[in-house]
Amino acid sequence: MSEHKRENFSSKLGIIVATAGSALGLGNIYRFPCEAGANGGGAFLIVYLCLALLIGTPLMISEFVIGRRSRSNPVGAFRRLAGKKNAWPVVGYMGVLCAFLILAFYTTVAGWTLGYLAKSVLNHFAGQDLPQIQQQFVDFTNHQWWPIVCQLVFLALTALVVARGVKDGIEKWSKVLMPLLLVIMFVLCVKSLTLSGAGEGLRFFFNPDFSKINGRVLISALGQSFFSLSIGMGALITYGSYIGKNDNMASSALGVVLADTLVAVLAGIVIFPAAFTFGIQPEAGASLAFTTLPMVFQQMSGGYVFCLMFFLLLVIATLTSTISLLEVIVAAFTEELQLSRPKSAWIGAAATAVIGVLATLSFRTGSPLHIGSSTVFDLLDHVTALYIMPIGGLLIVIFVGWRMKKADVMDELTNNGKLRAGIRNAIRLIIRYLAPVAIAVIFISQLIGK
Ligand code: TRP
Repeated sequence: MSEHKRENFSSKLGIIVATAGSALGLGNIYRFPCEAGANGGGAFLIVYLCLALLIGTPLMISEFVIGRRSRSNPVGAFRRLAGKKNAWPVVGYMGVLCAFLILAFYTTVAGWTLGYLAKSVLNHFAGQDLPQIQQQFVDFTNHQWWPIVCQLVFLALTALVVARGVKDGIEKWSKVLMPLLLVIMFVLCVKSLTLSGAGEGLRFFFNPDFSKINGRVLISALGQSFFSLSIGMGALITYGSYIGKNDNMASSALGVVLADTLVAVLAGIVIFPAAFTFGIQPEAGASLAFTTLPMVFQQMSGGYVFCLMFFLLLVIATLTSTISLLEVIVAAFTEELQLSRPKSAWIGAAATAVIGVLATLSFRTGSPLHIGSSTVFDLLDHVTALYIMPIGGLLIVIFVGWRMKKADVMDELTNNGKLRAGIRNAIRLIIRYLAPVAIAVIFISQLIGK
């Protein structure tokens, strides 16, 4: 595709909003509490905060640099910037594959959010006690066809938006609804803090027990930060390729990291006090958010309306994330295979559906869809967050730090000299030294630690 035919985001806000739309999603509200709960609460939080800021931000900036410099999808980006005869485009292919794998299991949970939206419309949680609400989760995820129907509907919605293109689809959706999600999270926090288990929950979440930090916690926090910030597999290379030439990419990236982290922390402040109040194990895993939150709504006046609003916003936040994942596949298909945008979107969604349905089925109690001891669902989650994204992220910072010319990187970071170089030189040094070393050390230490 020739350069002038590529779309751009329409405004400075466009890139922040679209990237925040990609970043904010189930990673914050479902996966973060899950991981924090399983990895010692406060210990996980502190490691997470350090990694998101110190590694997540420079990596996000690196992806923007590659994207805007190349104006291309992840595969084409490495080909253009690295010259034809080398292996760098493999990083791009890895990203496209990773997008498929994430989308497959992500839409399982995305489907649940649709199901829970329907449940909140129908007022299914009213007057239910904890065992009943827990049973609802089991019944829903084990139902013969609802989880699959919801997943397929979610994929179809994603394909519909992506087929229409970046500006119309992605930007418009995110602009109004992400701030609303933040507002509702604040309201829920306030409620959660009045529950009887608030103190215990907050202690679990904020009091770090440093003895709990081990290789597993480090890699889980690293994987979670990559997952939550949508980095390490080219989604933000793709979005970076739509950034206008005057956007301040470093400050946009920092803004997104802060907003994303804020929402994750708010989710923790809502969920852990509630979990301790109702006697739900913080290690409850997949059901954590889907059992604590309905219980919180039960305790609120106006709970019906809040519950409805919350699941509606969660569906939309999730949708802006699945859009960014499908967009990686579509940008690659349209530019590398010269397929039309709608065709790419529907083929991508259909291919995802095949693995995705297996992930959803593997969630059923007693499902034979296990590989070793983990379900297809868990396997997709682990392979992407603990292996592909850290390796992808490592290669991306190495590419920007060591393979791209310093002048080119600084041109991107300073918008051809229009922005001050000082702090941006420091950012480049972090990309060059700190980020690759830290990712490599964490990755290798968990391999050895097994
Ligand atoms: N970051 C999103 C979330 O937190 C999920 C997501 C969207 C994602 N695009 C991604 C994760 C790309 C990894 C890579 O819910």
